[in-house]
Parts: sequence; structure tokens; C-alpha cells
Amino acid sequence: MLQNRDTLDAWDRDHFFHPSTAMGAHARGESPNRIVTGGEGVYIVDRDGRRSLDAFAGLYCVNVGYGRQEIAEAIAEQARELAYYHAYAGHGSEASITLARMIIERAPAPMSHVYFGLSGSDANETNIKLVWYANNILGRPEKKKIISRWRGYHGSGVMTGSLTGLELFHKAFDLPRAPILHTEAPYWFRRDDASLDEEAFASRCAERLEALIEAEGADTIAAFIGEPILGTGGIVPPPRTYWQKIQAVLKKHDVWLIADEVVTGFGRLGTMFGSQHYGLEPDLMTIAKGLTSAYAPLSGTIVSEKLWKVLEQGSDQLGPIGHGWTYSAHPLCAAAGVANLQLIDRLGLVENAATVGAYFRKALSDALSGHPIVGEVRGDGLLAAVEFVREKAPRTFFDPALKVGPKVAAATLARGVIARAMPQGDILGFAPPLCLTRAEADSIVEATRGAVEEVARGL
Ligand SMILES: Cc1ncc(COP(=O)(O)O)c(C=O)c1O
Repeated sequence: MLQNRDTLDAWDRDHFFHPSTAMGAHARGESPNRIVTGGEGVYIVDRDGRRSLDAFAGLYCVNVGYGRQEIAEAIAEQARELAYYHAYAGHGSEASITLARMIIERAPAPMSHVYFGLSGSDANETNIKLVWYANNILGRPEKKKIISRWRGYHGSGVMTGSLTGLELFHKAFDLPRAPILHTEAPYWFRRDDASLDEEAFASRCAERLEALIEAEGADTIAAFIGEPILGTGGIVPPPRTYWQKIQAVLKKHDVWLIADEVVTGFGRLGTMFGSQHYGLEPDLMTIAKGLTSAYAPLSGTIVSEKLWKVLEQGSDQLGPIGHGWTYSAHPLCAAAGVANLQLIDRLGLVENAATVGAYFRKALSDALSGHPIVGEVRGDGLLAAVEFVREKAPRTFFDPALKVGPKVAAATLARGVIARAMPQGDILGFAPPLCLTRAEADSIVEATRGAVEEVARGL
């Protein structure tokens, strides 16, 4: 440690503008900070020597776990050989070309090309631009609106923050902006009509989507974006038949489908992509997080064969596409991506996410479903959530001011396990590294059970 603790603490409070943090409370020293110094497997360690089992893999991103020397070596080797060259005008590095190939090999057919960015947010910005560009080339310049879902999360830029359907990300930012529209969240547990079963609710989501498209005019709707499984909005698997019904509406009205696979890409659900898991046939896919397991910042837009042909036609007419980031396909990040995907294959992590994920979710459900304040235990693969309720029947929720979700997350952390209080509702989320073992899953369940009991006693 280069600085003594008091100095580093003061610098942190005085100068570091943390994302998603209550700024005043942090600056005044009223909320805890944590300076993380290392990690190994599913554990992180901080400068006080506190070790925590990270059951959220950072921000659902450190999929191969911490401390993987193979990836560190690949980045270092690339840095020594060639730290940077741009990818404009046909330039590339062996790592970026190889990675594009590896992604297409893993993606559902018929995907064709990968555009690299640095974050999930910028990749979704790219998606919107590509859809607009394509519709201009296709001679339908009015077809520009993008439909997203309430509770979807697609980033926090101006356009991507608008796509995001969570209040926190709109409040006081003048978002959402046109031309973004939102439709119903596929959240069966919170349905407003208790009489609907999952399939009837899925039909109603599709009907509401179609009603929105018709009200706006299908000739104004360019694309629909969705995460295969709702992530930050509550970790909510789609109700049965949802994607099938939604895609039928999109096809009917000639609307592009963007699958935001930032969380689900590269194994999280026990399949390489969420699209394969739930039967999506997207025109564009967004990837980030698991692409490098966050060892370096890298995202991508995977373009289908059909859309690619339109883009080719566009640049044949207009010249080089006017869209580029300095760091697109950065060689260090691409080297991390290649090493990461090789590691996922070598360790069989997609399969592990399926088997240990099923074990973990069952154990979580067995331990908690019967608890009076637990309304639902849900998830898929290695994604899970526990949603808290004041009453189970009729179902009522806690006053947000009671902060039940954050209190359970804090009590879980006190037991050595990091889970995430999701931002809208009292929902505790889990997305551990894909290398999780059954014994580690048991530790998460035990800590969560203890935390829920402690918080429930205090209510
Ligand atoms: C589904 C999804 N899309 C996009 C993003 C935005 O990614 P980033 O934070 O890298 O901009 C996230 C981030 O959590 C996400 O979960």
C-alpha cells in the first residue's frame, strides 16, 4: 500500500466521484467505503484483510473468477508486443480478429460480424445507430423509434439511459428522451391481474406491445430491445412463451430485435447465450461483461447476416461508416477476451453454470421459500433473486423507506457474502462467478438464510 490509510481515505472522500453512490453521504464519511486489494476464485479481499465471497461477481462480470493468471499473462504479453493500434480503415490486431471469429463461432446462427466497444452502454449506442442507419439505407427514414421494457437495463448514457426502464436512472436527468418508448415488464410475479397464469400474462405482454406499435404506427418503429432475462430490473426470468409471442409481433411489424446479452452472454444461464436458452433470433446482440470477465473493458455488437448486408450496401453508397471509437477493438482488451473465452471452454464453465446453478437455486429456494417475508425465489442458470414481501397473500410489498433489501444485503455481507440489493423493489440478487462450487453455493445460502432471519426479526 503506497499511501497510509488515513490519506487514502481522505482522498477517496474528497476526490473520487463514485458511480451509483450517494455522493454527499460518501463525501461526509457517513457511509462505508471499501478499498479492494485482491481476489482469488470467488473471493475478494480488502485492505483490512476482510475476505468476502463475491456472489455477484463484481457487477455480474467476473465470470471466470478472480486472480486468473492466464488472462493477466495474455494482457501483459500483448502490452509488451503491441499495446495499441486503432481498428479504423481496415486495421486490426491478431487478438481482435481472432476474438471476432471466436464470438461468431459461439453465437447463434446467422450472426456475421462483431463491432467492438468498451462498455455495454456504448455497444447499445452502437446498436441504435446501426438500426437507424440501416433503416435510412432501406429507404424508410420514418422507422426510428426504439421500444424497450420498463425495468429493462441497457446502460446509463443519454440514449441507453433512456432505454433503461428504471426510475433511478431517469430521475433528474431529463430521461427518457425521444424516440424511446417503453412497454410492459415481463414480470409475472408483479402482474397487476392476479388471475393471469404465466402464459396468459405473456400473451398480454405481447398484446400490449402490439397495441403500442399500432398506436404509434408500425412504420415509425425501428427496433425492440430486451435482455433475455431481466437483470438489474429484478433478475426475472421471462414468463413461459413470452419470447415466442413477442417475436411473432416483431416479425409481423418488421421490427428489428436487439438482444442485450451483456449479462447473459458467455455462459451465465448455462448456455453460451441467453438467445439460445430462450429461443431468441436477434438481428443484433449486445455483449460485454463476460466477454473478458472484466479483466479489461470490452463490449461488442454482434450483427446478423441480414443486417450486415444492409450495412455493406450503405457504405457502398455513402463511403466508410461514420462510427468509430478510438479504443474500439483495443488489443489489450481483445487479448483478455481471447484468453477468457479459452479459459471458459477449458474449465467447462458454461456447463458448470448449468449444474451448479440448478443446485444453488434449489438450495436457496429450499432454505428461503417458506420464510414469511420471502415472496419468491427465482432465477435461471447462475442468476438468482429473492424478493421480499410484507404479506404473501394478498401480496403486499414493504415501504421502500424500510430498506428491507439493502438491510438483507448488509446482513449478508456481515456474514462474509456479497449479494446485491437490486435498485427497484426489495430484491436480493445473486450472480456468482461461473466457477462456483457446490460448497461455495452452500455458504451463500447459509449466509442469506441467517441475514433474512436477522432482518425479519428486526421488522
Ligand atoms: C443488460 C445490460 N446492458 C447494458 C449494461 C451497461 O453496461 P456498462 O455498465 O458496461 O455500460 C448493463 C450493465 O449492467 C447490463 O446489465
